[in-house]
Amino acid sequence: VNTKNTSMWHYAGYFGKGVEYTLIITVISVFFGILLGTLFALMRLAHNPLVHSVGVAYIEFVRGTPLMIQVMFVYFGIGLFINIPALTAGIIAVSLNSAAYVAEIIRGGINSVPIGQTEAARSLGLSKNQTFSSVVFPQALKNIWPALGNEFVSLIKESSIVSIIGVTDLIYQLKAVQTATYKGVLPIVVAMILYFIMTFSLSKVLNHFERRMRHE
Ligand code: ARG
Repeated sequence: VNTKNTSMWHYAGYFGKGVEYTLIITVISVFFGILLGTLFALMRLAHNPLVHSVGVAYIEFVRGTPLMIQVMFVYFGIGLFINIPALTAGIIAVSLNSAAYVAEIIRGGINSVPIGQTEAARSLGLSKNQTFSSVVFPQALKNIWPALGNEFVSLIKESSIVSIIGVTDLIYQLKAVQTATYKGVLPIVVAMILYFIMTFSLSKVLNHFERRMRHE
């Protein structure tokens, strides 16, 4: 007889842990992604050819290789020298990946401000720094903010790849529940719904702030 408890409610703890890990990885990676992404955007926009090239090379290489292989590279690469937990490796890899995407969001936002704005500000006597901080950047932010929100939502989904190095995120837990229950589809459906709840509610919150920003 099958004495296993196959009710999904019985495994709420598994799914709960999975959601928790997925959110931890996403939130930390968004934070470092924005920090490092700003740095790489400024590097790419820099006039110094060496700094510019390093910025371009990083952004293009990271965007041109799969996140999956980057996760494996960070985990096993760092593992050659020191043992780090899979969770730490996952967060490092997703942060470094996000930084490249965020850099392009920021660069795109800054470049979308018409050059006439800079020319006008400069001819009114504002310094280069004043022009950037009080004319160009505030306008760029209007484009940057919503795109950063999209990146946040993307990372909830993309971070699922860390399950391949054994991080106990939602994908990992869904597999654990499949193994425990012998049920193939139901745990997938539960995880899908949980992912959707996370992305949908985050979008709602972000839209709210976006609307408030437009009205100010
Ligand atoms: N899944 C794609 C990849 O493996 C896209 C990653 C998207 N990353 C991001 N930070 N938005 O490369």
